[in-house]
Order: sequence, then C-alpha cells, then structure tokens
Amino acid sequence: MSTSIQTSTGLVGTTLEGAADLTRMERIGAHSHIRGLGLDDALDPRATSQGMVGQKQARKAAGVLLEMIKQGKIAGRAILMAGAPGTGKTAIAMGMAQALGQDLPFTSMAASEIFSLEMSKTEALTQAFRRSIGVRIKEETELIEGEVVEITIDQTTGVGAKTGKMVLKTTEMETVYDLGQKMIEALTKEKITAGDVIQIDKASRKITRQGRSFARSRDYDAAGGDQRFVQCPEGELQKRRETVHTVTLHEIDVINSRTQGFLALFSGDTGEIKPEVRDQINTKVAEWREEGKAEILPGVLFIDEVHMLDIECFSFLNRALEDELAPVVIMASNRGVTRIRGTNYTSPHGIPIDLLDRLLIISTSPYSQQEVHKILAIRCEEEDVEMTEDAKDALTTIGMETSLRYAIHLITASALAARKRNASEVDVQDIRRVYALFLDEKRSVSLMKEYQQEYMFNDQQDSNRREMIMG
Ligand SMILES: Nc1ncnc2c1ncn2[C@@H]1O[C@H](COP(=O)(O)OP(=O)(O)OP(=O)(O)O)[C@@H](O)[C@H]1O
Ligand SMILES: [Mg+2]
Repeated sequence: MSTSIQTSTGLVGTTLEGAADLTRMERIGAHSHIRGLGLDDALDPRATSQGMVGQKQARKAAGVLLEMIKQGKIAGRAILMAGAPGTGKTAIAMGMAQALGQDLPFTSMAASEIFSLEMSKTEALTQAFRRSIGVRIKEETELIEGEVVEITIDQTTGVGAKTGKMVLKTTEMETVYDLGQKMIEALTKEKITAGDVIQIDKASRKITRQGRSFARSRDYDAAGGDQRFVQCPEGELQKRRETVHTVTLHEIDVINSRTQGFLALFSGDTGEIKPEVRDQINTKVAEWREEGKAEILPGVLFIDEVHMLDIECFSFLNRALEDELAPVVIMASNRGVTRIRGTNYTSPHGIPIDLLDRLLIISTSPYSQQEVHKILAIRCEEEDVEMTEDAKDALTTIGMETSLRYAIHLITASALAARKRNASEVDVQDIRRVYALFLDEKRSVSLMKEYQQEYMFNDQQDSNRREMIMG
C-alpha cells in the first residue's frame, strides 16, 4: 500500500505549543504550587523545595524513577503509589510531570474517565498509552540562506499580482531569484532590506531574518542597540538542514486516521481509531527507527484512582505493559483491601494480584504537624493570602485533626472572612468563623447521625423498619 504517513506539520507543531502555553496560565488549582519533585543533583529530597514538603522516601523513589525514564532505561514498567487520602500521591505525580521536561510526554487521567468517553474502555486506554509515547523524528529540510544584495519590485504592472527579483549572495556565490506575490508580501512583512541575512524554508516558504550583515554595520548609525550583526553565510546558497521534532504516537494516529484528520487533535473528538491505521503506523515507525530517522521516547502515563478500573481494564493493562511500545505507567490508589470492580473478589488496592505482581510500589505516609504547617504556608502564598502565625498554627491543628485537604480549603474561605471585616491579614477569628461555617467530614458524619431521621434513603432507618417487619 502506498500510504504515506504524516507526522505533525509545522502548523500542528506550533499550534500545539500554543495550546500548552494557554494551559500554563491556568487558575490556581489543587496542585498549582508544585513545581517539581524538589530533589538535589544527587536525587536526595530537599526538605522543602519546588513546592514539595516532606514525603521524602516517595519523592526520592519518584526521582530515581524519573532519572531512569529520562535515560530511556525503562519502559513498560508500572508503578503504584499507595497511601492514605491526602498524602500527596497526585501531588508527586504532578511533580514528576513538571520535572520530566518538554520532550517526554506525560499523560494524566483519572481511571473513571474511561467509562465516560464515547468509545470502548480498551480503546480509551490504548489512546492513553499512545499519547504517552513520543516519537522524535529527524527531518531534512532544504533552505536557502544568504545576504540580500538587492530587492527590486516591478511597479509597472499597477493592478494585479506584483512580481520582482531578489539577489542573494554568500561569500562564494550570488544568484537572482524571481519573486511572486506571496514572497513579496512576506518580505515586506518581515521588513527585509538589502544587507539583511535571511533564511527561506523551501517547503513552507517561511522567511526568517537572521540579522544584519557585518559588512553593512557602518551604514547604520541610527539602527539602535537591538540590531544583531551576523557574518555573510559561506558556501552554497541552498543548504540542507536537519530538524528534529517530537510528536506522540497518538498524534500520528489521529492525523492519519482518514475519517478524522489533524483538526480532530484540537477538538479532542478523535473517536475510535481503526486497528489497521495503528498497525500501519507501527510498521512505518519501526522502519524509520531502522533507518535512523526516528527514535521512540517512552513517556509516562499516570492513572489516578486506579481502583476505579475494572477487571477487563486490568487484564488489558497486563498485556499492554508487555508491548514493545509501552510507556511507564504510574498508578495511584488510596484503597485498602477492596473489591475488584467487575468481580466479587477482593484484593489489595482493588488491583488483581497478577497485575500487582508486575508493579513496583511506592507508599506515602501521613504528614507530621510541621509538614502540614509548611504545606499550608505554601498554599497561603500560592493563593495570595496573608495569614498571621497564630492563624497558621490554628489551621495546622485543624489540618492534623481533620484532613490536610479540609485545612487547605479553609484558606480562601478565611481570606474572604478577613476581607469582610476589612482586615488585610487572616487571623484566628477568621479561621474560627469558617471552621464553624464549613463542616469537615467527621463533624458532618456525627451531625448526620444525630439527625438521621430527617434524611432520605437512610440505611439505618431502613434496617429498623426491616426489623419491625421481620419481628
Ligand atoms: N508533599 C507535599 N508538598 C506540598 N503539597 C502537598 C504535598 N502532599 C500533598 N500536598 C497537597 O495537599 C493536597 C492533597 O494531596 P494530594 O491530592 O496529592 O493527595 P492524594 O494522596 O492524591 O489523595 P487522594 O488519595 O485522596 O487522591 C494537594 O493540594 C496537594 O498538592
Ligand atoms: Mg489523588
């Protein structure tokens, strides 16, 4: 078959980067204070760094893992982060994503997502897997590089398309190029004049201005300080240059699936992708690898709340992890021994034993009082809330007795309370106020028990009634 496989074009490349820029301006989220794993060069965790506090063992383990991933030493492994709620499992995964850098793909999903997409569970997982594998593609591009000697534009034609000529030179040669309307527009837009050193990409016709030729440095006294001077290029005007770009397998899939086209990448509405398309792409990528044109970069797939997957998904994972093209899969769960979804069997973390056996397990432990204090202080900064030390202590006590999450949630609420009484700093009274206003889980449960008769669907009540009927 003579299908040519497209990878991302320049257009896709730039637009996707733009999208990444957009998400970076995200509002303050639960983990927006996390900027990395906070490790030093020897991969030892600093007490507090990059927004990370404590949980040293798990952070170090994550760091070692990350190093192996960066060196391309592991793929197709799976890691489980296990620990109580609010012990930083998701936070550490986000830290890893930050530390992974731009080139290696990191995909993050909640296990329950696969049940809500308009595609089969296994298709959703396959897409997530392929989103997490990068392909670094080397491409040769042809370009013209030279110093502009002269640009002449025919003024005579009046209406209609403009034409013109441009003379370009290197230290060794000089050539005259005919200019069409498009090129003239591009040159005008970039304000190219004689004496500029420029580069023209032959495929995309994109013009880039490298700077002014040194030979012209004296002509321009008024040029100002921002002028960059470069040497007149040497050798031939036409050059080949190697460019490298990274796309994910999933992006290649989508671009080449005939029903979708690359526009689907932006709508996110990719639908199911035919297995034949994937087979073709795998074959092509394997060919490129052999020819030295492409390199596979296994990234990371993070599946949060992994106990929400069901038995079919788990068995899919068993198999998919052994595939040649597999990313590193990191899962997180806060469950103990619980039922495996889709079966009547129980298992630790709700994960079948045969999958558990393939996992390396990192465990997270509860935080000390000091650590909670530090995390709360970092969150105050992140949310731009000024808080007195006393208030922070009070909040820490609340955090220790209820949960870290609950305490974090009180920060913004208490800031509003402080603003209401025209104070610039949150004080203990504000904390007290919101603590009374918003219940934590324990108080809510006890309150509910007290007033259980007034709630709907009350099991307690039902069982009473059942007893009555039975009796
Ligand atoms: N070591 C840490 N340093 C800084 N912030 C942390 C740390 N651990 C947790 N946090 C923050 O505390 C909050 C709760 O942590 P997180 O969501 O990571 O818990 P989790 O272990 O994923 O819990 P769950 O099992 O309920 O999903 C988040 O806002 C997180 O960013
Ligand atoms: Mg979590």
